[in-house]
Amino acid sequence: MENNNLIQLKDVTRVYQMGDTEVRALKGISYIIKRGDLLAIMGPSGSGKSTLMNIIGCLDKPSDGKYFLEGQEISTFNKNELARMRNKKIGFVFQNFNLLSRTTALENTELPLLYSDVPSKKSREMALKALEMVGLKGRELHKTNQISGGEMQRVAIARALVNDPSLILADEPTGNLDTKTGQEIMEIFTTLNKEKGITIILVTHDPEVAEITERRVYLRDGEIEREEES
Ligand SMILES: Nc1ncnc2c1ncn2[C@@H]1O[C@H](COP(=O)(O)OP(=O)(O)O)[C@@H](O)[C@H]1O
Ligand SMILES: [Mg+2]
Repeated sequence: MENNNLIQLKDVTRVYQMGDTEVRALKGISYIIKRGDLLAIMGPSGSGKSTLMNIIGCLDKPSDGKYFLEGQEISTFNKNELARMRNKKIGFVFQNFNLLSRTTALENTELPLLYSDVPSKKSREMALKALEMVGLKGRELHKTNQISGGEMQRVAIARALVNDPSLILADEPTGNLDTKTGQEIMEIFTTLNKEKGITIILVTHDPEVAEITERRVYLRDGEIEREEES
C-alpha cells in the first residue's frame, strides 16, 4: 500500500440483521482516500452514507471485506483497539453538534483529552489553540446555551481538532445551519484541509456544500454509483 493512502476500503460490506431480514447497507465498497483529501460523500437517504462513515470512523466494523487506516487493518480490531484508534486519529463533527449542554466552549473542546494522558495544563492550552483556529478566541468561557448554532458547530470542530487527528469526519455538518453560516463552517473545513493538511470527509445532501470539496463520491443502494472531481 502506498504511503500517502490514509484509507483503503476493500470490498467492504455491512449487513444489518433485523429479525429475519437482512438489510445490505453496503454491498462491496472499494475505495482509496489519500492524506490531505477533502471528500464529500453524497447520495439519497438510505444509500449507506452514515453506515460508511461509521466504519471509516471506527465506530463499527465491516461484515466482510477489509478496512485499512494508516496501513493498519481495522477490520480485525476488537472494541478497545477501535476506541483507541478513534481517540488518537479521528475527530467527529455531527449535524446536531453533540455538545454538552450548559458547559463552556473550553470544557467541550477539552473533552477528548480527558481520556488521554495529556496533563491538564497542556490540554487547556491545546483547547484554547483549537478554539482560536475556529475563530472563537474570546468566547472560550461562553456556555453552549449562550451561543448560536454556527458557534456551536465551531466548538464541535474545535473539539474534533483538539487531539491533532489525521482525519475529521463530518456527517451533515451544515444540515442545521442557515446558508450563510453553513458557508462559514465550510470555510473552516477548507482552511483546516489546506493549511493543516487534515484529511476531511463530509456527508452532505447539499450540492452547494459539496461544490467546495475536491472530490465527490455518490452512493446509491450501498454501492458507489459515481465519482466527480473538480
Ligand atoms: N442499525 C441499523 N439496523 C438496521 N438497518 C439499518 C441500521 N442503520 C442503517 N440501516 C439501514 O441501512 C441502510 C443504509 O442506512 P444509512 O447508512 O443510515 O443511510 P444514509 O446515511 O445514506 O441515509 C438503510 O436501508 C437503513 O435503513
Ligand atoms: Mg445518514
